[in-house]
Amino acid sequence: MNELYIGLMSGTSIDGIDAVLVDFSQSHPTLMDSFYLPYDISLRKRILDLCYPGENEINRLGEMDVLLGKQFANGVHHLLRKNQLNTTDVRAIGCHGQTIRHHPADQFTLQIGDPNIIAAETGITTIADFRRRDIAWGGQGAPLVPAFHHAIFSSDSDRAIINIGGIANVTILPKNKKTVLGFDTGPGNALLDAWAEKYLQQPRDDHGHWGKQGTVQKNLLNTLLEDPFFKQSAPKSTGREYFNLHWLENFSLDEYQPVDVQATLTELTAQTILDAIKLHFAECEILICGGGIHNHFLLQRLRESGHRYSIHSTEKYGIHPDWMEAMAFAWLAKQTLAKQPGNLTAVTGAKQASILGGIYFA
Ligand SMILES: Nc1ncnc2c1ncn2[C@@H]1O[C@H](COP(=O)(O)OP(=O)(O)O)[C@@H](O)[C@H]1O
Ligand SMILES: [Mg+2]
Repeated sequence: MNELYIGLMSGTSIDGIDAVLVDFSQSHPTLMDSFYLPYDISLRKRILDLCYPGENEINRLGEMDVLLGKQFANGVHHLLRKNQLNTTDVRAIGCHGQTIRHHPADQFTLQIGDPNIIAAETGITTIADFRRRDIAWGGQGAPLVPAFHHAIFSSDSDRAIINIGGIANVTILPKNKKTVLGFDTGPGNALLDAWAEKYLQQPRDDHGHWGKQGTVQKNLLNTLLEDPFFKQSAPKSTGREYFNLHWLENFSLDEYQPVDVQATLTELTAQTILDAIKLHFAECEILICGGGIHNHFLLQRLRESGHRYSIHSTEKYGIHPDWMEAMAFAWLAKQTLAKQPGNLTAVTGAKQASILGGIYFA
């Protein structure tokens, strides 16, 4: 018998909703179907505006909470229709929601997209608000995907999994299931998207074509690398409220050609990811997932600078790189229903492993 769950994810890139249908009846999860619901420009802007303090925030937050709850429910309906499933065929939905604030130092993180609406509109038990129990135990509330990586990618060789979303995070999987580590390494695509938006009026540097035409500015790179986040030891997590255009204004970028800045920001992402892995493994297999895998220039720089590592897509082990995080939230929902913990204390720094999320029964 199938054991079907739906995972819903919308990450720090604020590009849209990833929805996946996953079967957990075998030892390795099977992605049955997936669906991407991009945000249109005006919705994206409204969400972005909520990521920073502004006027009339509470009303705007409430409206967006409802709107996104409905959008998440639409993603579920689409998957059900396409796969001719009834609501009773799916055990539960795990919804990450959309992060609009992440301040773990103040024990505060906020993901929106009302799970009451998702449960009401789909008739499926919905689990959401995964991060705050970990934060309540003094953890970062992030990253949460390493527990899933650990469950499916642990092996008898050293591996590192890199998820390149708006923010990049790494999972360090030493061979033979020794302690797992995981932490945010800093910007993934967030700065690349922001700079492309500013100078190309496009939401991203498609395949890294623009950045590839530039020249990495070593001095600038070294200055950017001095940010204390890169030197901070794990557990650590960050968000787009830190690594954004405002952060870039700290540096005198007018002295450079925009295309050279893009090349340098791409190098910053590649180098901070590799530096994080080097701290743990001199050699290992690196598996990449997240939207950053489509930036060919970024991948080229990872391969060139990381030539000692064997670098592949997570596809090599049957997990499509675009759907990893949404699959992780389907898995986290399964953990919660089974009253199993979803966080790894060595990763988040929480005092205790906990059952994560709130359950909104159908
Ligand atoms: N063709 C592409 N070229 C360059 N970058 C891409 C491409 N496709 C996706 N991306 C990057 O991936 C990001 C989305 O990745 P995703 O894993 O969904 O991140 P998040 O979890 O932060 O939403 C986009 O914002 C973009 O930066
Ligand atoms: Mg995304």
